[in-house]
Amino acid sequence: MRSRPRRNRKSQVLRDMVEETVLRPAHLIYPLFLQEANLKPFAIASLPGVFRFNQSDLAKEIEECIALGIHSFVLFPAIPDGLKDETASYSWQSNNFYLDAIRFLKDRFPSINLMSDVAMDPYSSDGHDGLVQDGEILNDETLPILAKMAIAQAQAGIDIIGPSDMMDGRVGYLRDSLDRAGYSATSIMAYTAKYASAYYGPFRDALESAPKAGDKKTYQMNPANKREALIEAQLDAAEGADFLMVKPALLYLDVIHLLKSEQLLPIAAYNVSGEYAMLKAACERGWLDYNTAMPEMLLSMRRAGADVILTYFAKDFGALYKGGL
Ligand code: PBG
Repeated sequence: MRSRPRRNRKSQVLRDMVEETVLRPAHLIYPLFLQEANLKPFAIASLPGVFRFNQSDLAKEIEECIALGIHSFVLFPAIPDGLKDETASYSWQSNNFYLDAIRFLKDRFPSINLMSDVAMDPYSSDGHDGLVQDGEILNDETLPILAKMAIAQAQAGIDIIGPSDMMDGRVGYLRDSLDRAGYSATSIMAYTAKYASAYYGPFRDALESAPKAGDKKTYQMNPANKREALIEAQLDAAEGADFLMVKPALLYLDVIHLLKSEQLLPIAAYNVSGEYAMLKAACERGWLDYNTAMPEMLLSMRRAGADVILTYFAKDFGALYKGGL
């Protein structure tokens, strides 16, 4: 036997030398849930260890994350029912608590990279990502609403706009609207291949944002499809996206790999709430070891081709990395 692959595995130093994939805190974006200023931290039952925070509690959370090497965040608002309506009008009111928090956090932590969510569902009394008429999710009529939301966020100082709605043409529409309003430096991370997945359940619990009727299958992608992700990717790239995202991540590693090989933009992977919940639950039962199973899960996404990972594990990974992984 001349070839013995085990020779390159015989010591830690050698293993480190031939290691192909690197995972660092700098690759991660930590999702944060924002609630109104007067509310106490709220533990999300289906996302153990994740809380809804008001803006001053969020500032403490961000400070802890920065100390662990996590500098990128994506912010989602939990909007009280009384502020929701059919047109998501609260989303672009200049003094709403989401935009207030963006201004507050960017002022307090100017060096962080802050990403927003652009979609109607947290603000919509229908719980859909687009405007609903007679049970139908309207595409073109939704775009101006998304643009108002995106411009308001850009004005508040957001670094990256995150359209998560899957309406056709919204990346180009938002790019043009942002540019016309003077925000040509505001980035767009397109939710390019976002699937109609069962694994968003805990997130919808966190925001109480589940659709009131129907499902999201007329806009989010069919989990059975892969070639279709290339159509979405081509469109988003041509429309001016700065990142292409695949969501969920763990169950769609093949799609991450495909987009990475076919496209030149950085690829992001959203390690979604259900993927977090299932690993956490197994670890809580002692069926898996958290400190080894968690980084292995994140590494699989990097190996598949993700440049950036949005993950609820970010803070824990930062702590693990700091302690010497
Ligand atoms: C909605 C949105 C969802 C997530 C991010 N933005 C849920 C959905 O489409 O219903 C899911 C994130 C997660 O599960 O972690 N615009």
